[in-house]
Amino acid sequence: MTKPSIVEELRGSGRGIGAFNVITLEHAEAVVGGAEDAGLPVILQISQNAVRYHGSLAPIAAACLSMAGTADVPVVVHLDHAEDETLIDEAIELGLPSVMFDAATLPYAENVARTRAVTERCHAAGCWVEAELGAIGGKDGVHAPGVRTDPAEAAGFVAATGVDALAVAVGSAHAMASRDAVLDDRLIERLAAAVPVPLVLHGSSGVPDDGLRRAVAHGIVKVNVGTLLNRAMTGAVREVLAARADLTDPRKYLAPGRAAVRGEVARTLTLLAGEQSL
Ligand code: G3H
Ligand code: ZN
Repeated sequence: MTKPSIVEELRGSGRGIGAFNVITLEHAEAVVGGAEDAGLPVILQISQNAVRYHGSLAPIAAACLSMAGTADVPVVVHLDHAEDETLIDEAIELGLPSVMFDAATLPYAENVARTRAVTERCHAAGCWVEAELGAIGGKDGVHAPGVRTDPAEAAGFVAATGVDALAVAVGSAHAMASRDAVLDDRLIERLAAAVPVPLVLHGSSGVPDDGLRRAVAHGIVKVNVGTLLNRAMTGAVREVLAARADLTDPRKYLAPGRAAVRGEVARTLTLLAGEQSL
């Protein structure tokens, strides 16, 4: 089982790692296939929203863990954006080596208290914890520039909670359909200097390639990508169905959707893994 320590090892290297959201089995196959094509490690992540869609974590987690176990490259399986502590406990029981506890919308003191309690439980089980400080907007469909994470507060948060990685608000927003978000590179640099754990960028689909390159050069390590893959998959499926009104076998349109995601994953991983220069 690949440990999330591969993320820690990248800190300060100018290199990053892609963490891709899995909704369907085809997403997971495409993410692992894309990583194998690129010859690079990858993170397969299952969000609380994806768990709610399926009704439970166990089947999709088992599929991801199974694929991770047989891949030709290191694959970490991670629970993404869990707001519910019982889901974290379930992830630990199922053997996930890594989770994100997201209490970013709560007042600071409550975020600290709940994150610290979750982190203690996770660490006792050998599980790695990512938390969020400064709510990264967009999950509600509003893509306003939003708040920013303060470096001094972030350092205090990590010291008080003991988390292994920190998601920071630096100008991205979740679920953007356009790639025109402008990140605050100077803030990323200050956060990387102040915070002793790897930084995580959420809402990376809205950031253009050059913005991702600069973010990694300035200190972002884990780059979370979801919407970009869904756009690739849905676009390919739509194209096939538009051309073939007679199709009924889902494999005929899901296979091109999966192939499109695989290509996007390989491309993004390669971009993030190059040592980025400013
Ligand atoms: O946690 C997941 C990511 O932040 C994905 O965001 O769908 O905007 O790329 P995205
Ligand atoms: Zn996110």
